[in-house]
Amino acid sequence: MQTILVSTVFLLIFFSAAPLTNSAPYTPTDHILLNCGASSNTTSLDGQNWVGDADYKYSSSISKSSSFASIASYQEPSVTEVPYMTARIFHGKFTYKFPVSPGPKFLRLYFYPNEYPGLDITTSFFSVTANNYTLLHNFSAYLVAATNPQKGFIIKEFVVTVSNNKMLHVTFSPSPYSFAFVNGIEVVSMPTHLYAGQKYGSVRLVGTNYFFELDNTTALETAYRLNVGGGDVSNIDDTGMFRTWHGDMDYIFGAASGVAPFEPEATIKYTLATPIYTAPQVVYKTSRTMGPTASINSNYNLTWVCPVDSGFYYLVRLHFCETQPEVTMPNQRVFNIFLNNQTAEASMDVIAVSGGNGVPVYRDYVVWAPHGSPSTQDLWVAIHPSTKNHPEFIDAILNGLEIFKLNKTDGSLAAPNPEVEVVHISPLLEQKHSKTRRKFKAVIGATMGSATSLFLLFSYIFWQKKHLLLIQKFSQRRKVSPLSKGIGCKHFSLADILTATNNFDDALVIGRGGFGNVYKGHIQGLQYEVAIKRLNSMSHQGENEFWTEIEMLSQLRYINLVSLIGYCNDNNEMILVYDYMVNGTLRDHLYNNDKIPLPWKQRLQICIGAARGLDYLHSSAVQRIIHRDVKTTNILLDEKWVAKVSDFGLSKMGPIFMANVPITTMVKGTFGYMDPEYYRRLQLTEKSDVYSFGVVLFEVLCARPAVDIKLEDEQIGLAGWALKCVENETIEQIIDPYLQGKIAPECLRVFAEIAENCLREVGLERPTMSDVVGMLEFALQLQETAEAKQTVQVGDRIQARTIDEVV
Ligand SMILES: *[C@@H]1O[C@H](CO)[C@@H](O)[C@H](O)[C@H]1NC(C)=O
Ligand SMILES: *[C@@H]1O[C@H](CO)[C@@H](O)[C@H](O)[C@H]1NC(C)=O
Ligand SMILES: *[C@@H]1O[C@H](CO)[C@@H](O)[C@H](O)[C@H]1NC(C)=O
Ligand SMILES: *[C@@H]1O[C@H](CO)[C@@H](O)[C@H](O)[C@H]1NC(C)=O
Ligand SMILES: *[C@@H]1O[C@H](CO)[C@@H](O)[C@H](O)[C@H]1NC(C)=O
Ligand SMILES: *[C@@H]1O[C@H](CO)[C@@H](O)[C@H](O)[C@H]1NC(C)=O
Ligand SMILES: *[C@@H]1O[C@H](CO)[C@@H](O)[C@H](O)[C@H]1NC(C)=O
Repeated sequence: MQTILVSTVFLLIFFSAAPLTNSAPYTPTDHILLNCGASSNTTSLDGQNWVGDADYKYSSSISKSSSFASIASYQEPSVTEVPYMTARIFHGKFTYKFPVSPGPKFLRLYFYPNEYPGLDITTSFFSVTANNYTLLHNFSAYLVAATNPQKGFIIKEFVVTVSNNKMLHVTFSPSPYSFAFVNGIEVVSMPTHLYAGQKYGSVRLVGTNYFFELDNTTALETAYRLNVGGGDVSNIDDTGMFRTWHGDMDYIFGAASGVAPFEPEATIKYTLATPIYTAPQVVYKTSRTMGPTASINSNYNLTWVCPVDSGFYYLVRLHFCETQPEVTMPNQRVFNIFLNNQTAEASMDVIAVSGGNGVPVYRDYVVWAPHGSPSTQDLWVAIHPSTKNHPEFIDAILNGLEIFKLNKTDGSLAAPNPEVEVVHISPLLEQKHSKTRRKFKAVIGATMGSATSLFLLFSYIFWQKKHLLLIQKFSQRRKVSPLSKGIGCKHFSLADILTATNNFDDALVIGRGGFGNVYKGHIQGLQYEVAIKRLNSMSHQGENEFWTEIEMLSQLRYINLVSLIGYCNDNNEMILVYDYMVNGTLRDHLYNNDKIPLPWKQRLQICIGAARGLDYLHSSAVQRIIHRDVKTTNILLDEKWVAKVSDFGLSKMGPIFMANVPITTMVKGTFGYMDPEYYRRLQLTEKSDVYSFGVVLFEVLCARPAVDIKLEDEQIGLAGWALKCVENETIEQIIDPYLQGKIAPECLRVFAEIAENCLREVGLERPTMSDVVGMLEFALQLQETAEAKQTVQVGDRIQARTIDEVV
C-alpha cells in the first residue's frame, strides 16, 4: 500500500498492483487499475485486480453531488464484467488525482456506452483533460462505438508525462446540459525513452528536413498497435506495460496481403537500441513479407491503410526483425518504405541496420494528416522491394506497426466525433480536390533540404487547410466511383436492385451468410438471372476496401470462379451482383435429402473444378489470393454442373477474421473448416485453404444427414472423425450410403489419401492446390479405368453405360 491522499474534490486510496507475470521484461513502478462505480475490489477475466472507486465518493460532499455510480442494464457478449459493467456518472466537473512517480505514463480510459438506468447515453458529451493536455473534447463514446466497425466498448490509450512532485490529474467535464461517464481508468509507468522523450532526440517529418523533438512535453494518443503478420497479443502478454497488439489483416489494402512467415523457434536478440521491453518476442517472430515470386513482388506495394483523425501529426513506428533462416547478410532483402505515398526510407536493409538475423530494430517517422473534412483520412504505409544494389531477394518485410497521434501546439489530442451524414459531391469538385492533393505533394517534395522552404511548407499547409475546407464542405464522402472509367463490370442503380429483388423480399433470399443476404433476381436488360449479394453494414470496413475488392474481383475471370457482373453503391449500400448458379451450392446436393444424390464421378469432377478454382486464386491470379472460407456452401454449381468457387476476396470484409474477435469465437464461427495451424501459430496461408478443402473432400465422400447429426455432438468435427476412420481402415463404413459399392477401391484409396494429406497438421506437409488438382485427376482416371473394365465385363447387354448410371 502506498499513499492515502485527500483532495478537495476526491479522496482516493490506491494500491500498486503486484506485477502479474514475473517473467515480464519490464516492471512498471506504478500500475493502477480503477474500476469506476464499483464498491469493492474485483478481478477481471485476465486475472488483474481492479480497485473500486465507490467507497470514497462519500468522503466528500462535493463529489456526492457531482457524481454517482451506476450499473449497466445489459451486458453485451463482447464485454467483460470488469471494468465495464459499473460506471461513474458525472454531472459536473470531476477530477481523479493519481499520485505517481515522475515520468511518462500510459493512461487508459475504458468506456462502455450502453444503457444505464435513467440515462440516455446518446446525450452524453464530455471532455477529458490530463494535467494540461486535452485528451477528449465534446466526446461521444456512443457515436465512436456506433461507427464502423461497431464496437461494444472503447479503450482510449494516451501517453502523458508527469513531472517531478506533480500528480496525474484526470478531469471529466460534461458538455453543457450533458453528463460524462467512465467505466475504468488504468495508469501504467513506462520506460522514459520508449516513445516520447526519445533518447536520440528527433524524428524526421517525412518528405522534409524538419525534425520533431518528441520530448517530455509531447502527449500521445495510440491510434494503432499492430502485430504484423500475426494475431492479437493481449495486454497480459505484453512486455509489462499491458499494451494490446492487434493482428494486421483488417488494415491490409486490397487482396495483396503477401505471406506471413512465422519463426517460433527464433531467438530474439534485443539490444541497447531495441531493449527487451520494446515489443514482445512474438511481434518479431511473426512478420509479413511479399511472397516468393519476384515478378509479382516487383509489381505491387504491400500496403496498410489506417484511418486517422485529420489535422494532426502522427508518429509512425515500424518494427523489423529478420528471423527467416535464409536472410542473414546485408543486401539480401532491401526495400523502400512509403508513408502517405512519400518515400520515408529508401533501401531499408534490416540486417544492415540491426546487425544480424534475430536482432530487432525499429524506425520512427512523423507524418502530417492535413486538416479537412471528413474528419478522418487514410494514413498509407507501404513497402516495396528496392532493386538498386541488386539484392538477393526481391522482397520486403514488416513485423510491427505503431501509430500515435501527437498533441497539437495547444496541448490538445481531441478530434471531432465521427460524422454520420453523407453529402454528395459533384465530379467537378472532386477533380479540383484531387488536383490540390497532387500540388500539395509536389510542394512537400520540393521543400527537401532548405530552411526557408520549411516556412513555405507550413504556409502551404495553412493555405491548403483553408482551401480544402471550402472544397471539402461538399465532399464529405466520395461518390464518384473509380470504376466508372471502365473496369470490367457494371454499375447498377439502387432502383435496378430494388426492382430486381422486389425491395429485398425475403422470399427471394437464396443464401444468408456473415456478409449479408443473397437474393435471386432478374435485372431489367440482362438476359440471365443474377445473384444479388447485399453486404450488411456490419460486415465491411468502408468504401475504400469495397472498391479495392470490386476492382480485384472484376479482374478475375475463370471457368471455376463465380464471375462478378456488377455492383451498386447508391445510398451507402454495398451490393455485388454475380452470375446466378442454377444448381445452387454443393452443400445442398450433399446434405439435402430432397435432391437426387450426385453420382461419384460427378462429385469427383466437381472437386477437380473447385480445386482448379482455388489453384487459380493461389497461383495464377494477378494477385495471390487466399480464399479463407473454403466450404461446401461456397462451391456453387452452374446449369452444366461445373463447380464455381464463390465468396473469395470478400473474406476481409467479413466478421470472421476481425482482429478483435477472440480466437475461440473464430473457431466456433467456422466450425470444422479452420486450419488448426492458423489458431495455433497465427498464420494464414494458401495451405489454410488446402486444409479446408480437405474437409470438403471428406464431406463429398461421407456427407449424408447421419454425418451431420454426428458432427453436432462431436467436437472433433468431420475432419477428425474421417481421419480416425482412415487410420482404422473403416472409411468404407462411413461413406455416403448412396455411394456404397460404386467407388472403385483404388480410386477410394487415392481420394482418401488426398483428403488426409490436405488435413495434415503442419501446413508445409500439405500439398499445394495444384498438386491436389493433379491427384484428383488421377483418382478420376482410376475410377474411369475401373468402370471401363466393369463395362466390358457386364458385356453387350449394358453396353457403354457406366456404373453410376446403372443404379
Ligand atoms: C483491494 O486490493 C488491494 C490489493 O491490490 C488490497 O490491499 C486491499 O486490501 C483490497 N481492498 C479491499 C477492500 O478488499
Ligand atoms: C498546468 O499548467 C500550469 C501553468 O500553465 C501549471 O502551473 C500547472 O502546474 C500545470 N499543471 C500540471 C498538472 O502540470
Ligand atoms: C458536441 O458534438 C455534437 C455532435 O458531434 C454536436 O451536435 C454538439 O453541438 C457539440 N457540442 C459542443 C458544445 O460542441
Ligand atoms: C522535462 O524534461 C526537463 C529537462 O529534462 C525537465 O526539467 C522537466 O521537468 C521535464 N518535464 C516533465 C513534464 O517531466
Ligand atoms: C496514395 O496513393 C493512392 C493511389 O494512388 C491514393 O488512392 C491514396 O489516396 C494516396 N494516399 C495519400 C495519403 O495521399
Ligand atoms: C508504391 O507506392 C509508391 C508511393 O505511393 C508509388 O510511387 C509506386 O508507384 C507504388 N508502386 C506500385 C508498384 O504500386
Ligand atoms: C504539445 O503540447 C505542448 C504543451 O502543451 C507543446 O509545448 C508542444 O509543442 C505540443 N506538441 C506539438 C507537436 O505541437
